[in-house]
Amino acid sequence: MTSVKKGCEVGECGACNVIIDGECFNSCIYLAVWAEGKRIRTLESLMGPNGELSDIQQAFIEETAVQCGFCTPGFIMTAVEILESGKLYTDAELRKLLSGHLCRCTGYENILRAVKKTMYRRLGLPMPTEPEA
Ligand code: FES
Ligand code: FES
Repeated sequence: MTSVKKGCEVGECGACNVIIDGECFNSCIYLAVWAEGKRIRTLESLMGPNGELSDIQQAFIEETAVQCGFCTPGFIMTAVEILESGKLYTDAELRKLLSGHLCRCTGYENILRAVKKTMYRRLGLPMPTEPEA
């Protein structure tokens, strides 16, 4: 799997995040034996049969939430966990949920917008035009 990145190797950056049995983990500090018999999802699992991008991947492109892309697969896997909860989060909550990731390039705002936009779309709600105070 080429999407799973080795960044810090100490559970600090989130570049290696994968979803294991529905929960996002830093794979660099997750012992392989713990994963036995569990379902592991990486970014590769999000694409359709003909390579179509998922809604959250598309939103990262639309919002220019990708620059060098090194942090992106990890961010997106955490976003998938957030989105699959089916909850409507505030900006502050989304920031906290995404805070386990480091990005050297984007300044984070575009990433937050991409996740927020997808959350509103999936919930069938209009995206607020003003950022929350
Ligand atoms: S490489 Fe795993 S958290 Fe940084
Ligand atoms: S896009 Fe370069 S580290 Fe995040």
